[in-house]
Amino acid sequence: MTDTDHLLIRAAFKKPIERTPVWVMRQAGRYLPEYREVRDKAGNFLKLCTNPDFAAEVSLQPLDIIGVDAVIMFSDILTPLMGIGVDLDFVPGPVIGNPIRSEQDIHSLGTFQPEESTAYVGDIIHLILKQMDGRAPLIGFAGAPFTLACYMVEGGNSKIYSKTIKLFFGEPELAHQLMDKLTTLTIDYLNYQIDAGVHMVQLFDTWAGILSAADYERYVQPYVTRIFRGLKKQGVVPRVYYINGSCHLIPNMAETGADVIGLDWRANIPQVKNAIGDRVALQGNLDPNTLFCSIDVIKERTKLILDQFGPESGHIFNLGHGIDKQVNPEHLIAMVDTVKSHSVRKST
Ligand code: CP3
Repeated sequence: MTDTDHLLIRAAFKKPIERTPVWVMRQAGRYLPEYREVRDKAGNFLKLCTNPDFAAEVSLQPLDIIGVDAVIMFSDILTPLMGIGVDLDFVPGPVIGNPIRSEQDIHSLGTFQPEESTAYVGDIIHLILKQMDGRAPLIGFAGAPFTLACYMVEGGNSKIYSKTIKLFFGEPELAHQLMDKLTTLTIDYLNYQIDAGVHMVQLFDTWAGILSAADYERYVQPYVTRIFRGLKKQGVVPRVYYINGSCHLIPNMAETGADVIGLDWRANIPQVKNAIGDRVALQGNLDPNTLFCSIDVIKERTKLILDQFGPESGHIFNLGHGIDKQVNPEHLIAMVDTVKSHSVRKST
């Protein structure tokens, strides 16, 4: 099989498919007892991320245990920041010891050299590709600059991101300096992964949905557009762009140059198709909490999304956000099996 033959890649480029492909954000994670076992062996989450053998092992678990159509390399959107001097820990949520609060803080950030700071990511990719032997495509990823900036400014998780907004609205030149640095880092990091052999890349902009469309256009869209323009293997390695809480930003997302837009569960697929037409493929968008319902409800809701998208190519099934750590793996298997059986095309 050549790299472009994978079902996932064909769906992303709207080429003929025999059924809808499915993978799950955070599919390698704490809901799997097998993951928890390897994480315990590694010692902690960061040690798991930076140990290629363990990271490759947990990346592959959902392929065999859940039956998804793609593997996403195991890492975190924040780990590359350690390469520019960010003091990062997970407890288990991320904590940054040296948050960005001034121009001096931005200037002291180092230059990112992926082959030096994230050599372990190249090793993880090579190991996964070797162990998978063409069975499934491999997804690489990065955090988008605004979402990375949120963590760097706040120093960790936040409900309201008030310090970030204070910086962006109050000192826009500083915000643009930070966005510019993080954009260069993201392009270099994703191209490093593409060179190492990933088949698709996803840019996670989880927090960009907190901005109005006008502020998104001012502070985010030009940088995301620059990232998608700067990536290698255009037309071969599809580029997915995900924002949580993005209903008001979907037309903007479609203009960034992404091949696929990752929808959260609030988006209505027929309305999205009406608004942006056929320009990009779509990924999503089952409400992650559906997996806490009965298997009958999971099946019914999964089928509804597949039916809403319709029979043409250009849909990758996924949750609308990451899977929760309390989900019963059997429930996820029921979702994946339903996608596989319900989406079979009569002819391709
Ligand atoms: O999808 C996958 O299976 C690949 C691995 C992956 C992780 N994080 C592993 C992880 C990916 C793609 C991410 C992306 C990520 N990380 C995002 C964007 C997607 C999203 O969920 O919005 C964000 C915002 C982060 C930052 C982050 N990392 C948070 C907020 C947390 C804490 C989560 C929690 O529930 O406590 C992490 C830690 C993290 N990243 C875990 C995993 C499996 C849990 C840590 C553990 O196992 O101890």
